Amino acid sequence: MDFKGLDILNGYQFTNQQLNHIMNTAAQYEKRVKAGEVIRDLEGMVVATLFFEPSTRTRLSFEGAINRTGAKCISMADAKSSSSAKGETTADTIRTVDGYVDVIVMRHPEKGSAQQAADAAVHPVINGGDGAGQHPTQALLDIYTMRKEKGHIGGQTITFLGDLKYGRTVHSLGYFMQQLGNKMIFASPDSLKMPEEITKDLRARGADIVETTDVKAALSQSDFVYVTRVQRERFDDLADYEKCKGSYVVNMELLKSAKKDITILHPLPRVDEIALEVDDYAGAAYFRQAHNGMYLRMALLGLVTGRA
Ligand code: NCD
Repeated sequence: MDFKGLDILNGYQFTNQQLNHIMNTAAQYEKRVKAGEVIRDLEGMVVATLFFEPSTRTRLSFEGAINRTGAKCISMADAKSSSSAKGETTADTIRTVDGYVDVIVMRHPEKGSAQQAADAAVHPVINGGDGAGQHPTQALLDIYTMRKEKGHIGGQTITFLGDLKYGRTVHSLGYFMQQLGNKMIFASPDSLKMPEEITKDLRARGADIVETTDVKAALSQSDFVYVTRVQRERFDDLADYEKCKGSYVVNMELLKSAKKDITILHPLPRVDEIALEVDDYAGAAYFRQAHNGMYLRMALLGLVTGRA
């Protein structure tokens, strides 16, 4: 299966066969790292990580993946330190960096910026989150985690809980869920509902979606709950943020209503939407999920360079 040169931009670009291949490749990298192998698959290559927005997991797991596959990394962790602070366009920055590296990983506050970068670059561009748009590498590590936690994926029910309007991870994951045959329940405050265009598009593709504000009922039917943070940085008016922050909290009391063995996912960072007491719950998978990110990103780097 040929992924060489492919841009990774959204949650709807892959076939099921490709998804399966990405998962299997990540599993192989996980095995090799855990066996203590010094991996040199990307020896001689250079990867850029350009982060125009804050990041902990996405940037550092990519950089971990770059180092652990034997490539070298050049990094921009802060938009203020680059020429974008002088007014340079993203396209010009990308055209420049494209001449220095073999792969570009980028996070940017503007929706659609990943596509612009891909248009400007010869080398593969990997979208590490474009504003309130898409976050495909997170959604890929989410399905990798789901498969690991339950042993398989498909025919299950997942509740997306929280900020489904601005939360880009669920915008990508929704497509994978539809593709892999998982039923979705969207549970959010009214002002943070999944964008209509996405819900419509998912339904047109055959997705089974229920929208609700009844979190207890949703969890009682779900194999997974995917919790998201209210995306404070995306609100035009902070008064609106104040109104919905803290409107949902997963705690042990709420989990009494949940299906037995429910798996709890969160892309992190969490603010207050999962109580700390839940961390000891067996199905709390969010830190395992964050760790899986590195193996998944090793797979993506290996695949788009043709070295995996
Ligand atoms: C997410 C993001 O940046 O969209 N974080 C991540 O990549 N793990 C979620 C968030 O910021 O809430």
